Amino acid sequence: MYTDAAEFSAPAALALQGVSKSYRSGSSRVHALRDVSLALPAGTFTAVMGPSGSGKSTLLQSAAGLDTPDTGRVLLGGTEISQLRPKALTRFRRDHVGFVFQSYNLLPQLSVARNVTLPLLLAGRGPDQAWLDYVLEAVGLGGLGHRKPQELSGGQQQRAAIARALITRPAAVFADEPTGALDSATAQQVLGLLRHTVSALGQTVIMVTHDPVAARHADTVLFLADGRLDGSMTDASPRDITARMADLGER
Ligand SMILES: Nc1ncnc2c1ncn2[C@@H]1O[C@H](COP(=O)(O)OP(=O)(O)OP(=O)(O)O)[C@@H](O)[C@H]1O
Ligand SMILES: [Mg+2]
Repeated sequence: MYTDAAEFSAPAALALQGVSKSYRSGSSRVHALRDVSLALPAGTFTAVMGPSGSGKSTLLQSAAGLDTPDTGRVLLGGTEISQLRPKALTRFRRDHVGFVFQSYNLLPQLSVARNVTLPLLLAGRGPDQAWLDYVLEAVGLGGLGHRKPQELSGGQQQRAAIARALITRPAAVFADEPTGALDSATAQQVLGLLRHTVSALGQTVIMVTHDPVAARHADTVLFLADGRLDGSMTDASPRDITARMADLGER
């Protein structure tokens, strides 16, 4: 399922092939990603873990078209985004990629419903009231669409951000530490919601996390170390994930 020599086969929602990315740091270079290949089937929930600086955010940003790899190919929802020119990439991202960050990035002056439907507006697509109602209901914000973000709890704001990520029916939802700012009970609810979007809506979700308990909600955990993929675990317990992380940290 998660192949190292990823084929660009149709069923994969996301495929990376030989992706490398380095950054200039003074006179030297930091190799953030080194020859990463993977293929994630549609309708799966994948967690990405690894020590700080191992390349998790760079992997997410390269896979989501927020950053461009130096070499390699990225195929997202059947489009080779690594071939797209900047304008086309921006358009693709807007129309086909969902993002959830640690900070919710909701616009304070807009209602929850307006925040959630903003991506449709920006894409020039008409509002789809039935789908909006469904998504708000699915994230547990049914009846709260008229509120302003500051009238919601942190967990509810992150649910609104997840609704906004889902509204365009994206090829994949990318989440970087989505529960980093939440207490553990609220984090569990948000993770349960991400799980639900995969199980009930068939979404493909890729989530970076430091937390083995959070990673437990995913089908598979991918490990990164020093910019390289370093194995994966499926149906692992938080204890096994913690042991693996400790092992990566020591090397
Ligand atoms: N814009 C940038 N310019 C220079 N170096 C960068 C840049 N972005 C990331 N890096 C470097 O690339 C490496 C990987 O960074 P990345 O942010 O992907 O790590 P991470 O695994 O997400 O870490 P963390 O768990 O701390 O968020 C690090 O050494 C980082 O310092
Ligand atoms: Mg990071």
